[in-house]
Amino acid sequence: MASFDNLKLTVQDDILTIVINRKNKLNALNSATIEELRLAMQQAFDDTAVKGVIITGAGDRAFVAGADIEEMTSLNEMNGRKYAENGQEVFQMIEDSNLPVIAAVNGYALGGGCELAMACHMRVAVEKAQFGQPEVNLGLIPGYGGTQRLTHLVGKGKAFELMTTGVLISANEALSLGLVNHVMPTAEDMMNKCKEILAKIAEKAPLAVGMVIQCINAALDPEEKGYQTEANYFASCCNSEDFIEGTKAFLEKRPPKFTGS
Ligand code: COA
Repeated sequence: MASFDNLKLTVQDDILTIVINRKNKLNALNSATIEELRLAMQQAFDDTAVKGVIITGAGDRAFVAGADIEEMTSLNEMNGRKYAENGQEVFQMIEDSNLPVIAAVNGYALGGGCELAMACHMRVAVEKAQFGQPEVNLGLIPGYGGTQRLTHLVGKGKAFELMTTGVLISANEALSLGLVNHVMPTAEDMMNKCKEILAKIAEKAPLAVGMVIQCINAALDPEEKGYQTEANYFASCCNSEDFIEGTKAFLEKRPPKFTGS
């Protein structure tokens, strides 16, 4: 496993946990951390033993309190575009992952932190977590896909309100908006919930899980024809060993043994 300066990686029970580890900066994402996230995700894809990924923040205050504001002071129109596109690319890599990725939101998820959580397939938050896109306070807008993903997740009106007022919302409000899947009372409960969901998914046919992810992403991509993507992937599933095994196991009244082929 490669070594990282800003992340802590552990694999347990086939789950890779990526901890954003810049506790004294409330886990703010600098460029080095974004690059390490890219490497860590690639490592997860290359490791066939990994069945799911959890992304969380170090300490008990923040998931990620945003992009690193100090680093951002050097941005101008030229490098600002590159900066946004680079972050978008890494977050897209997370969203496009065939492995399920859950954000365990253990505290502040602000700006780039909220955007990172939204790039994950699901979000499980601790009750005291807070969410927001406060970039307008800095004379900015979200640049890592937040304007798009927040609109998809909570709808146009609420997305407008959150991004133009910069107001922070509680985990329970995020839950009521559909921004979060589950809210748990403690950090330990939050991690256990993430593991429970990933363990459930790991019992299913891996190819089919990956294809569900791609179809959901296609539904939200204006350049994709979602129904066609669904039919194509459905046909691919019909051509898989896991389809033969899954249907056979059902008819033989036994649990299936999926191989991902
Ligand atoms: N970028 C860089 N550093 C950050 C940061 C960020 N996004 N968020 C927090 N930090 C740093 C602070 O500068 C401080 O560092 P220091 O101790 O070296 O001065 C440290 O993390 C602790 O933060 P602090 O502001 O002292 O904690 P707080 O409890 O008073 O406030 C927040 C917590 C999250 C409300 C506040 O840090 C904040 O508003 N952060 C920025 C949020 C934001 O605008 N994100 C979007 C960025 S695009």
